[in-house]
Order: sequence, then C-alpha cells, then structure tokens
Amino acid sequence: VLIEPCYDLYPYAVVAAGGVPVYVPTAFPDFRLDLDRLAAAVTDRTRVIVVNTPTNPTGQLLSAEEIGALGELAARHDAYLISDEVYEHLVYDGLEHLPVASDPVARERTITVSSVSKTFSATGWRIGWAVAPQPLSAAVRSAHQFVTFNATTPLQRATAVMLDVAAAGDYYRTLLAQYTERRDILLAALAGLELEIGRPRGTYFVMTRCAGDDTAYVKDLIASRGVAAIPGSAFYHDGQAGPGRGLVRFAFCKRADTLRTAARRLRSV
Ligand SMILES: Cc1ncc(COP(=O)(O)O)c(C=O)c1O
Repeated sequence: VLIEPCYDLYPYAVVAAGGVPVYVPTAFPDFRLDLDRLAAAVTDRTRVIVVNTPTNPTGQLLSAEEIGALGELAARHDAYLISDEVYEHLVYDGLEHLPVASDPVARERTITVSSVSKTFSATGWRIGWAVAPQPLSAAVRSAHQFVTFNATTPLQRATAVMLDVAAAGDYYRTLLAQYTERRDILLAALAGLELEIGRPRGTYFVMTRCAGDDTAYVKDLIASRGVAAIPGSAFYHDGQAGPGRGLVRFAFCKRADTLRTAARRLRSV
C-alpha cells in the first residue's frame, strides 16, 4: 500500500519485489490520510504499507493519530510498515518529527529507514541504515546480501564520524536554521505568483497548486523564467487524471544565493 503523492521510486520498488501497488491518495493542501480509505485499502493480502514522514513531495508530517491507525491496521492484517524517515531532521516551526516506531503497536512491525542524503547533504553517497525489531532486522540483512551486497567502507566510516560529530554539537540546529532561511526565501518568492501555496512542515519541498495543467505550467516556468519545478502529477499513478493535476513541487535544497537568484527571476516577468 502506497500513500500518494509519493517518492517516485516506491511503485517501481514494489513491482521489482513482485508486489502489486495499491494506492491511497491524499490531496492538496494538507494531504491528510483518509483513515476510512486507508482501512479499505489494507486487506489480509497486504504485505507492506510504505510511509514517508516528513513527506516528499508534500512537506507534511504524519500525525500521531495517522501513525496509530497505520500500526493498528498492520497488526490486524499481519502486514509490515516500512517507514522512510530521511527528512527526519528537517522539521520546521517548532514542530517535532514523530517516528512511526514511536507508536508501541507500530514499532513491532516497522522497518525504519534513513540515510545521510538529506541530513548531511550527501545525496550521492547512498549510505543509509534500517532499524527494526530483531526478526525483521534479520530479514532485512538477508535480503540486503542479495541486493546491494555491501556499501562503500570509507563512506561508512565517514558517516560514523559525521553522526558522532552531529550528536556532540549543534549540527542539527544549524542545519535547520539554514533550511529555514532557504524555505523563507522560496516562500516569499512564490507568494508573488498566481499559485496556492502549501506551507511545508518538513522536508525541503514546497507543494503548490496552479490553475491548470501542472506539466504545462512547469514547462512555461522553465522557458520564461529559467526556474525549474516538478509537476505534481508525476507523484500520482494516475497523472493528470487524478488529484495530482495542477500540483507543482518546488525545492529549496540550494544555496541561499541561488534561491535569491531564482526569486529575482520569478519577479522579473
Ligand atoms: C523520500 C525519499 N526517500 C529516499 C530518498 C533517497 O535517499 P538516498 O539518497 O539515501 O538513497 C529520497 C531522495 O530523493 C527521498 O526523497
């Protein structure tokens, strides 16, 4: 079971693993989970529910109520949860990241995955980790042996140092302060456009909505202003025919100066 809109890799990972994706859509602007719809999608045939909080591309966070419902459904149908929490340190406005495994029922059935990608701005490293109860961890490790086999040792060692240094100092606070500044530059720039804006609670994405076709909007933005965004319909399996139509995802994982240049370009037409 995949909650849409979702990171574009998930449906392919499901198919590669021999699964059949079942989609539960959420919609702009708050992207809350419809718990009745979720309950209807999860059956005894469900093997895994994949969640991602903070969420790419919506910038939203799963609530305690939503996590509770996910754990209960997984337990009732003997399914598992894979919780992708790579944006765990990018949560704004004093809000807190709530790990799915913080729920006692969900914890027993959850594999939490994260990585250095977003937290240490090292997206090319492909160094990550999975945390799970022992039997699930054993299953992850036996599959890992036949998928990536191993990770690059020097990068693993560097990661261990980065995690230690971050834990000992104020790295995470500085990271958040930098991203908050970047977010505010982008939000101010977008306020001048004819878009509805969803204020992100987490991640480095801003989800917005335009009046018509999102792909046409993005193509025009690139051609007329030299600023790129991603059509939101790309994050839904039914593309323009579903709730993704009109959605446009902007990203602020850029230097503040680069974002200021983008802001000037957005104002210039
Ligand atoms: C939700 C989500 N999970 C995972 C990743 C990729 O993480 P990694 O670079 O560690 O493979 C991304 C990157 O875009 C992402 O948005």
